[in-house]
Amino acid sequence: MAVLGSSSSRSVAVVGAVFVLVLVLDGADVCNGGKTSTYVRKEEKAVDMPLDSDVFRVPPGYNAPQQVHITQGDHVGKGVIVSWVTQDERGSSVVRYWSENSEHKLEAKGNVHRYRFYNYTSGYIHHCTLRNLMYNTKYYYEVGIGLTVRQFWFMTPPEVGPDVPYTFGLIGDLGQSFDSNLTLTHYENNPQKGQTVLFVGDLSYADNYPNHDNNRWDTWARFVERSLAYQPWIWTAGNHELDFAPEIGENQPFKPFTHRYHVPYRASNSTAPFWYSIKRASAYIIVLSSYSAYGKYTPQYKWLEQELPKVNRSETPWLIVMLHSPWYNSNNYHYMEGETMRVMFEPWFVEYKVDVVLSGHVHAYERSERVSNIAYNIVNGLCVPVHDLSAPVYITIGDGGNLEGLATNMTDPQPNYSAYREASFGHAIFDIKNRTHAYYSWHRNQDGYAVEADSMWFFNRVWNPVDDSTSV
Ligand SMILES: *[C@@H]1O[C@H](CO)[C@@H](O)[C@H](O)[C@H]1NC(C)=O
Ligand SMILES: *[C@@H]1O[C@H](CO)[C@@H](O)[C@H](O)[C@H]1NC(C)=O
Ligand SMILES: *[C@@H]1O[C@H](CO)[C@@H](O)[C@H](O)[C@H]1NC(C)=O
Ligand SMILES: *[C@@H]1O[C@H](CO)[C@@H](O)[C@H](O)[C@H]1NC(C)=O
Ligand SMILES: *[C@@H]1O[C@H](CO)[C@@H](O)[C@H](O)[C@H]1NC(C)=O
Ligand SMILES: *[C@@H]1O[C@H](CO)[C@@H](O)[C@H](O)[C@H]1NC(C)=O
Ligand SMILES: *[C@@H]1O[C@H](CO)[C@@H](O)[C@H](O)[C@H]1NC(C)=O
Ligand SMILES: [Fe+2]
Repeated sequence: MAVLGSSSSRSVAVVGAVFVLVLVLDGADVCNGGKTSTYVRKEEKAVDMPLDSDVFRVPPGYNAPQQVHITQGDHVGKGVIVSWVTQDERGSSVVRYWSENSEHKLEAKGNVHRYRFYNYTSGYIHHCTLRNLMYNTKYYYEVGIGLTVRQFWFMTPPEVGPDVPYTFGLIGDLGQSFDSNLTLTHYENNPQKGQTVLFVGDLSYADNYPNHDNNRWDTWARFVERSLAYQPWIWTAGNHELDFAPEIGENQPFKPFTHRYHVPYRASNSTAPFWYSIKRASAYIIVLSSYSAYGKYTPQYKWLEQELPKVNRSETPWLIVMLHSPWYNSNNYHYMEGETMRVMFEPWFVEYKVDVVLSGHVHAYERSERVSNIAYNIVNGLCVPVHDLSAPVYITIGDGGNLEGLATNMTDPQPNYSAYREASFGHAIFDIKNRTHAYYSWHRNQDGYAVEADSMWFFNRVWNPVDDSTSV
């Protein structure tokens, strides 16, 4: 197991447990702790889909574009980055595209590169940014121009504005196991129809293979193409994106991830692709990196310090932050790993009234109360999380289904900052209705597509800052 990272080794131990023991805790017994779900899963391992699985099939045709994926390509939602891989030869980096109601076909030219990782050489990776698109419009696009052409489509978001409804899917730590495929299938079939995925990090888990077998980055991208070619996924870097492996001469962190997944970081004046922001409909989304320096004076710190005052809640009422390693987690797995970043940034999140913080990393689901823990100054002893209506709700959604299995060992008793927790695979939906209300629901894979295992009405922290706690 030498190839496994330390977090993997720990999780493998969990998978080995024969029974999943779900503790039934009564709120009164656990100093106002929330709910630990009584749902009992069938115990089963998360196993990666084999290389010959249907979801990994290479599309037919000479040099056919594969691994097609899109993400937002500018700051306001009028740009789209289209990415794909060709394997036989370089081929064209041109994207041909047109709006649904137009005969007029446009072309944009991107760029192409390859990278090496140990003894792996990637295919030709193409990235092309489409700019100045119309809002709220269906576009068709084609890649592979000149050889095997493949056609896809996407919808641009509505123009940025305070009362624009928009539906985000929330997925994290997906991987490429049979359970990952179930999570994606449940997301696709959820009747609430997510329009864009906010992905909280840990994509392929290729680094769990010998020499970080980068072929598993390729299979992952082929697997998720069925969603990613048609709707943008917004990327956060997780620890499985680091691919730092000096033992095989790979000393540059994030190498496969940054070659394969481009993000529009320059549009928000960021200097690195690991922290950036976008506006989409009525949401302002800030992506942070748990695995880049965030101490005082660091680039990420200085960027965020300048970024938060720019958010205009009259234009984008909903302020959403994504980061991989959770700050409020009551699972023994990765317990307190997010603590150093919390200490640096939590006072700002309260000051600027962030609505919700989305994290992954822990392979389970958890939703917090609105809490903060910012009074402590080393000598005053005020080190307990307190109910705080200016604070965000923290959601851990690292339950995408990767091969490391579920994180079932929770702290006992459940702390009172935790509103709901459960070790099951699933995804969530954050459905913005208007400037005051958003409906949130979490969906476990064992249930029917429309079933909500946990839910909550979010009241916006600026426009409707009343108590929206579910356990009062
Ligand atoms: C890379 O190295 C591993 C083991 O060192 C070997 O199993 C694999 O076949 C090699 N792959 C290539 C493409 O050379
Ligand atoms: C993955 O899920 C899709 C349905 O969404 C199904 O068609 C396919 O057979 C599944 N593949 C595997 C390997 O489970
Ligand atoms: C980035 O910086 C430039 C130059 O200072 C400024 O004009 C622009 O508004 C900034 N963009 C964002 C999204 O903050
Ligand atoms: C904030 O956004 C509103 C609505 O778009 C706009 O009227 C106002 O001028 C903006 N405020 C600032 C300081 O840019
Ligand atoms: C949790 O309980 C402690 C001790 O009773 C209390 O000080 C704190 O305010 C509570 N926190 C929340 C979030 O309710
Ligand atoms: C659960 O986590 C605690 C704290 O890390 C540890 O002491 C305990 O042995 C773990 N239990 C199991 C069954 O792994
Ligand atoms: C905002 O959405 C909520 C939930 O759908 C609804 O009850 C409320 O009336 C809406 N507010 C406005 C001003 O339309
Ligand atoms: Fe992680």
